[in-house]
Amino acid sequence: MRRPIIAGNWKMNNTIAETKALLTELKPLVKDAEAEVVVCVPYTDIATAGEIIKGSNIKLGAENVHWAEKGAFTGEISAKMLKELDVEYVIIGHSERRQYFGESDETVNMRVKAALAAGLKPIICVGESLDEREGNKTESVVRTQTAGALKDIDKSELDNIVIAYEPIWAIGTGRTATSEQANETIKVIRDVVAELYCRDCAENKVRIQYGGSMNPKNVKELMAMPEIDGGLIGGASLKAVDFSNVVNF
Ligand code: 13P
Repeated sequence: MRRPIIAGNWKMNNTIAETKALLTELKPLVKDAEAEVVVCVPYTDIATAGEIIKGSNIKLGAENVHWAEKGAFTGEISAKMLKELDVEYVIIGHSERRQYFGESDETVNMRVKAALAAGLKPIICVGESLDEREGNKTESVVRTQTAGALKDIDKSELDNIVIAYEPIWAIGTGRTATSEQANETIKVIRDVVAELYCRDCAENKVRIQYGGSMNPKNVKELMAMPEIDGGLIGGASLKAVDFSNVVNF
């Protein structure tokens, strides 16, 4: 069985003071969750978040990681730096990184490799734009992105990999994919994993989340779908009560 995983992606939100307030409120609200709970926070909030969630069931995540061990990469953060702060998960290839910061399938793959080599668990994001969906390209886009991200990744790593299907048109728009659309595309992603590795790997190792305006109102219906193993939550992760209502679906 695949244990559900609900992760917050704070994006560029929350100062240290706001981090303290949000996580202090969140901790008791999610303490009995059946799902695995993760908060992926800005670099400057990681140390504070780590202190506050210590000893709780909330796990710590970052929002990106560089592929090199160290060196002349101004503005970047290495896997070793994240490990030092007890980060467990890291988002890689979010559509905002792909759209605004030139992230490609190749750089996503390099980051995934670096994360895994350091013992971080990647949350790899894939998903189509509205034009691509309307042009019937959804399947080919998520196939290419999934295969690209997993290129030369060993089967033994699959337990540590989460994939998030995030249709770009559903991110921050309040326009959620229908549960059928989300389920159908996640099934495509799972089939790619099966083709690249094995059916059992796809069914029992890799977990695949849905992301894109997931909130307390639609979480139940989305999580009832057989292929959807969790959520990557943007806006609704910024309020403790909302996020806890998603976590405790
Ligand atoms: P929203 O939940 O705000 O749509 O964001 C989704 C997302 O991009 C999570 O990574």
